Amino acid sequence: MKQKLALDYLETYNIKVAPLWENYFRVKIKESKKIGVYASDLLTRFTKMAVLGKKVRGALMVLGYQIAEGRNMTSIYEASLFIELMHTGLLIHDDIMDNSDFRRGLPSLHKQYYPSHLGKSMAINAGDIAFYLSWEKLMTSDFPKDKLTLAGKIYSEYLLKVIYGQILDISKINVEHESEKVILNMLRYKTAEYTGVFPLLIGAILGGMKDLEKIDKLKKYGVSLGWAFQIQDDILGLYGNEEKTGKPVGSDLKEGKRTLFTYYVLKHGNAKQKEYILSILGNKKISKDDITKAQELLKEVGAYEYVVNLGRSYVKEGKEAIRAITSDKKLQNILRSLIKYIMERTR
Ligand code: IPE
Ligand code: IPE
Ligand code: MG
Ligand code: MG
Repeated sequence: MKQKLALDYLETYNIKVAPLWENYFRVKIKESKKIGVYASDLLTRFTKMAVLGKKVRGALMVLGYQIAEGRNMTSIYEASLFIELMHTGLLIHDDIMDNSDFRRGLPSLHKQYYPSHLGKSMAINAGDIAFYLSWEKLMTSDFPKDKLTLAGKIYSEYLLKVIYGQILDISKINVEHESEKVILNMLRYKTAEYTGVFPLLIGAILGGMKDLEKIDKLKKYGVSLGWAFQIQDDILGLYGNEEKTGKPVGSDLKEGKRTLFTYYVLKHGNAKQKEYILSILGNKKISKDDITKAQELLKEVGAYEYVVNLGRSYVKEGKEAIRAITSDKKLQNILRSLIKYIMERTR
């Protein structure tokens, strides 16, 4: 079932912020031209990438603000650019770490240069620029100083969580002895916290939410949404449509990533199935056929069903927190629709 409310909310958000992005980058690119052609070229590449995201996090920030009954919509839309700037920076660095060729349908930023060392260096700079631009955007936004100070503290806290999550993601411990708990913890830190909790929380704080019970429930909803988000990201990474996701299918296997899929098959598969998965995990030479075979194998073993069900269990958990977050029926319905959309999305 199509989640109309969620899709409408995201679309409205995207329409509202499109001209803000245009203005924002026009000014920033102009500034960078004073530095030189390499700087403005990098910023232009960054701009092209930044505007192409789904902007789920920015929309969640606005939603958090509305839940807190914030009234300054013009300022919250403008401020919400900060989170998408930060997110794009994270993705650019992530693509270096994951050795990914494509992002949002474009060559990953570090693959846009030659030689490869220059590309990685430029992409590190692009990510760093993104973090500082995002910090500047948040801290110069039109909200009272006490709220911004608190928002700044939360910013540091959540950015740090992501970095720790990325460390967990790239540290290769013995895949065969990995537990569900270890994988879920990694997914929480690298994605769920900054994707689900962070935007809602920042929006709510700027909107003046103070009720600790409400904040707690908002975090519960957010982390469930965030977990479901990364689970669906892993599903789309294996079974998605590249045209829609803008990222290649099977790259997690090629890069030897530990996911809930690999965990399940290594725990429940027979000797032959485990051997096959281990033979392609981290194997840079795997072909399209190998990936098709892995897709089938993961369904046979029940890994696909397991992962989908786990995602759905987070959706259910998140939905249970909604009534304690707001009594506004319209906002409740949007929260419900959004968390369902997360597991149904194809991009
Ligand atoms: C991808 O995030 C990376 C994760 C944290 C899972 P999105 O799926 O939100 O990517 P964009 O911003 O829409 O490209
Ligand atoms: C994304 O994790 C997490 C961050 C960018 C912080 P992934 O590496 O799983 O996401 P994709 O699939 O490349 O977007
Ligand atoms: Mg990664
Ligand atoms: Mg990645």
